[in-house]
Amino acid sequence: MAKILIRKGKKEFIKELNKEVLVVKPRTYYIKDIENDYHTTDGVISKKDLKKKDGSVIKTNQDKEFTIFTSSFLDDFRKISRSAQIIPLKDIGLIIAETGINKDSNVVDAGAGSGALACFLAHICKEVTTYEIRDDFLKIVNENKKFLNLKNLKVKKQDIYKGIDEKDVDLITLDLPSPWNAIKPAEKALKIGGYLVSYSPTVPQVIDFVTVISNNDNFLYIKTSELIKRNWDVEGRKVRPKSEGIGHSGFLTFCRKIR
Ligand SMILES: C[S@@+](CC[C@H](N)C(=O)[O-])C[C@H]1O[C@@H](n2cnc3c(N)ncnc32)[C@H](O)[C@@H]1O
Repeated sequence: MAKILIRKGKKEFIKELNKEVLVVKPRTYYIKDIENDYHTTDGVISKKDLKKKDGSVIKTNQDKEFTIFTSSFLDDFRKISRSAQIIPLKDIGLIIAETGINKDSNVVDAGAGSGALACFLAHICKEVTTYEIRDDFLKIVNENKKFLNLKNLKVKKQDIYKGIDEKDVDLITLDLPSPWNAIKPAEKALKIGGYLVSYSPTVPQVIDFVTVISNNDNFLYIKTSELIKRNWDVEGRKVRPKSEGIGHSGFLTFCRKIR
């Protein structure tokens, strides 16, 4: 069980400067090991304090105050090991919203990569099976599965282009170099009304996937979306989009098995 230590930042009006200045920086620490004292740049927190109940206010040996609480799934998820490019949260959110999967859903995913998508889906679905061909990624996804304590995630060393063992699947997610090669296997595994979602970073992948699926009478091609997320600064009346760039992640193509 990991703990989160958090403190809000604090601003004060400095007369001499005639403006508000940040006098305490906001800070968050993620603490995996609560059996030992934890060393931070704000001082040491004793292991006794790390075991205090959620909401307790504790102090470092430098007299800095933090609130402590147990980490949530999302806090833990943000700490998983990652090697391959993982799908970002915004895109995971769109998959969940557009397919309506839930605690009763059976899902198949490929390729596992670091398992970010598979792990998140396992957190909300009944069962997720993820396919991966590379041993180095299988090791990472299995570590992440253990770290997040996901008992309903099955990890298979198998080429999804060669077939899917599961049947009556509610959703299949693909994050693969050639996702069109998984359409035939997906057709056999999905239940009628089930969704096939392909996540690809490049346009040629979208073209080839949509061309193949549009020529398959058993699938309905619904749409391809790209989700752009823009963060804003909100400081008093200074409210405006952040000056950071808006990066591209991937295109999401949604399809449905109709017969
Ligand atoms: C970009 S990564 C997937 C990342 C993953 N969606 C995540 O969120 O962490 C793509 C993975 O697909 C795997 N892969 C490629 N071809 C495959 C195949 N035919 N069957 C199963 N996995 C495959 C690769 O080894 C790689 O790990």
